Parts: sequence; structure tokens; C-alpha cells
Amino acid sequence: MSRGTAIDLCYLVAAIGFIIALKGLSSPRHARTGNLVAAAGMALAIGATFARTGLGHIGLIVIAMVIGVAIGVPAARLVKMTAMPQMVAAFNGVGGGAAAVVSITEFLGSDPKTLATYKVLEVIFGVLVGSVSLSGSALAFAKLQEMMSTRPITYPAQQVINGIVGLTILGFVLTILVTSSTLLLWILLGLSLVLGVIFVLPIGGADVPVLISLLNSFTGLAVAASGFTLDSNVLVVAGTLVGASGMLLTRMMSVAMGRSLPNILFSAFGSVVTASGSTEGEGGRSVRAGTPEDIGTLLAYSRRVVIVPGYGLAVAQAQHTAKELADTLLAKGVEVFYAIHPVAGRMPGHMNVLLAEANVPYEELKEMDEANPEMPATDVALVVGANDTVNPAARDTPGSPIYGMPIINADEAQHVVFLKRSMRPGFAGIDNALLYDPKTTMLFGDAKDTLQKLVAAVKKA
Ligand code: TAP
Repeated sequence: MSRGTAIDLCYLVAAIGFIIALKGLSSPRHARTGNLVAAAGMALAIGATFARTGLGHIGLIVIAMVIGVAIGVPAARLVKMTAMPQMVAAFNGVGGGAAAVVSITEFLGSDPKTLATYKVLEVIFGVLVGSVSLSGSALAFAKLQEMMSTRPITYPAQQVINGIVGLTILGFVLTILVTSSTLLLWILLGLSLVLGVIFVLPIGGADVPVLISLLNSFTGLAVAASGFTLDSNVLVVAGTLVGASGMLLTRMMSVAMGRSLPNILFSAFGSVVTASGSTEGEGGRSVRAGTPEDIGTLLAYSRRVVIVPGYGLAVAQAQHTAKELADTLLAKGVEVFYAIHPVAGRMPGHMNVLLAEANVPYEELKEMDEANPEMPATDVALVVGANDTVNPAARDTPGSPIYGMPIINADEAQHVVFLKRSMRPGFAGIDNALLYDPKTTMLFGDAKDTLQKLVAAVKKA
């Protein structure tokens, strides 16, 4: 077997590894193995690349790898679970930037006049999409890290300006295709960076996770374009897998939020906050507030309790205390499981990751479709820091901004208990009628604190 064939074979095995890894990542049970398979595939692809004849600048490549490892490993180990979207944004931006740099370097390293038109198109695509991904991800990082306002940033004639930038970019693309001008390619790179910024500015902080998934998909496509430019099959396959899975994830997140992607990207939806922070809702409707002792007794004498976690669980870092409460109830013979909404929290799989961190057994987690049929036979739905994902308006009120979003039917349980700090709304900024329902009891306070009180109360009951 020739060296070239052996290298191609290694690339093929690596590409198969990436596909197996994606399958593994589809469930928390196999996610670790999936990650390891992907890492092994990547190590094999890197090793095979070093075996290629004619590879230059090995010293520089090794230095770049050492810098990457020195930054990447501690960043991944030290990042807090709630800061994961920022880290993905940062890594994603660097990937997009690298794809743009590879494309432009290849262009500079060849005689542009002799390049076939499709090669120039690949370079343009890599530069354009990679640069949008770089600057867009950098801004998304700044928003999530609260280094700048997380509110949608709008200004007069925004759409007109965006349109002009878009049309100018199109003009440059067409001119570069005809002239193969290096200068125009540099200008295109600059304009693409501007496009990334103006694309992300009007998107509210809470919508940024969906945006990051979309930018991630863009980076994958830019990497695939670099793969074509470099004649590297493994880059084409890896880039396409990232592009396709990012696009699918973006779509799944929008469907689970009951919103279209254009609505998420262009409507500044995440910024609206309407309700007050008092215990009286809109129109002065009153709510029933309970004590930990009453609710502890209710829980201890239930047959089935379903815990519905949401964003507030992550904010309060109450996952360990939620598990402690579940374990205490289980020890008393109460059936307990967690009902997981696909977009509870602020990132895909947020609740699964949090609860896995607290070592909650997978058998105690039920996805929404599996949990909902069990709700009518549930004594207490204990809603811990969730709001939109249990709001019946999504199911029953046409015209509500969240109408059409699937929800956990907590309102079908015999009793509903909300653990939250106030009457403030959730991410969608809209009132939740379930808070005022006669079967609902509110336990106000930080979820970690109220859960601790409930553990003590259940033990006493
Ligand atoms: P939300 O509807 O956002 O409600 C969270 C609730 O948690 C708030 O009402 C808040 O009320 C409460 N809370 C905050 N901190 C708390 C604390 N320390 N202790 C107790 N409660 C606390 O959450 P959800 O039900 O998980 O819904 C998620 C929302 O985010 C959906 O609208 C979804 O579309 C959106 N979204 C999701 C994603 C993904 S991928 N998961 C991405 C972007 C947007 P108080 O302030 O009164 O405490």
C-alpha cells in the first residue's frame, strides 16, 4: 500500500469515527464515549497529516498546536456549566477565523489568474462565511459574558444599512470571480467581519444560544470550503458534519421554542419583560403562597411527585439539592421523576447536563413526550425555576408569543408548586396563568434555599 493510500485510509477511518461520535453524542448515556471517539478520530487525522510528504513549516505547526492545547485544555476543564455557551462561541469563532485564513492563504500562495473559477468561489465562500462566523461569534461571546449589553441593539435605518452591506458584499463577490483581485478579497474579508457584527447586534442575549448553533453551522461550511481548497477529504467531511449538525440543532431549538428561525434572528424577542416583581400579578390577581412545612407535608404524603426543572435551577445551582429532595422522597416510598423540556434553561441539554453533574440516575429523567401522559396521575408537579416551559398559554392561547411551543403539562397534575423568587416572567417575558391557578402554591425564594427547606420539612413529616 502506498503512503498516499494509507493516509487516505486513515482519513476515512477518522471520518467514520466522527459519524459514530455524533451518534454517541445524541444521548447523555453515550456522550462521553462519543467525545472520546471524536478525539481519537481527530488524533488519527492529525497524525496522518504529519505523515504527508511535502508538509512544510512543521516547527510552526507544532508551536501553534502547543498554544492551542495550552489554552484549550484549561479552558475546557475550568469552564462552569452555565458558561458553556460562551466557550462554544469562542471556540467556534476561532474555527471560522482559521477557515477564512486558510482560504486566503491558499489564494495568496497560488497565481490567482490561473485559478479555476470554482476554486476562486471556494476561497470566497471560506473567507466570507468564516469571517462572519469569527466576528459574529466574538460579539456573541461578549454578550453572553456580559462584557456588553445583552439587550438587542438597534439603530435607525438598521435594515437599510444591513441591505447596503449585503449588496456591496454581493458586488465584491461577483467582481472577484471575474477579476481574481487579491485587494478586493482583503476588502471582502473586512466587509464580512462587519457583516458578522451587524448581524448579531440586534439579537437579544437570551436568543444567542440559537445564534451560536447557527454560527457553528456556518463555521462547518467554511471549513468544508477550506477542505475543497486544500483537496482534503477529511476536512470536507468534518466541516460538512459540523455544518449539517449545527443546522439541525438550530432547527430543533427553534421548533422546541415554537418559533421560526427568522423570528429568533430578527425580532428582538428575548428582551421583553412585562410583569412586576411583586406577588400580585397583572390586574391585581392574587396568588397562594405556601410555607416549606405545608409543602413538605404535601410532598411526603404524595404517591407521585414530578420535578420540572428550568432555567432557575441553573441560576440557583440547586441541582444537588433537588437530587437530595428526590432521594429523601424516594426513601419515603414516593415515586419521583424529573420531566425534561427540550429547551428548559438556556442551552440544548442544559437540564440533562446539570442533573448529570448531580449524579441523578438517567432512569429518573423523562423527556417531555414520555412525561406528559403521566401528569394527570401525578400528585404534585414541583416546578423548580421553570416558567415558559410549563405555561399553558403555549397550548391554549392562540396569539400568545409562545403559542405552539410544546410544554410540560404541569397544570394536569393534582397540585402544582412553583419554586421561584418572585412573580417575574421567564425568558419570553409573558405572564403565566398557572401561577394564579387555585391548584397552584408558590414557594418564594432562591431555589437552592427553598429546596433545602423542603428537604428538612419532608424529613420531619
Ligand atoms: P424561564 O421561562 O426562563 O423561567 C425561569 C424562571 O426561573 C424565571 O421565571 C425566574 O423567576 C426563575 N428563577 C431565576 N432564578 C431563580 C433562582 N435563583 N431561584 C428560583 N427561581 C429562579 O425558564 P424555562 O422554563 O427553563 O424556559 C426556558 C426559556 O428559555 C424558554 O422560553 C426557551 O424558549 C428559552 N430559551 C431556551 C434555550 C435553550 S436551548 N434551552 C435557548 C434560548 C432560549 P424569578 O425571577 O421570579 O425567580
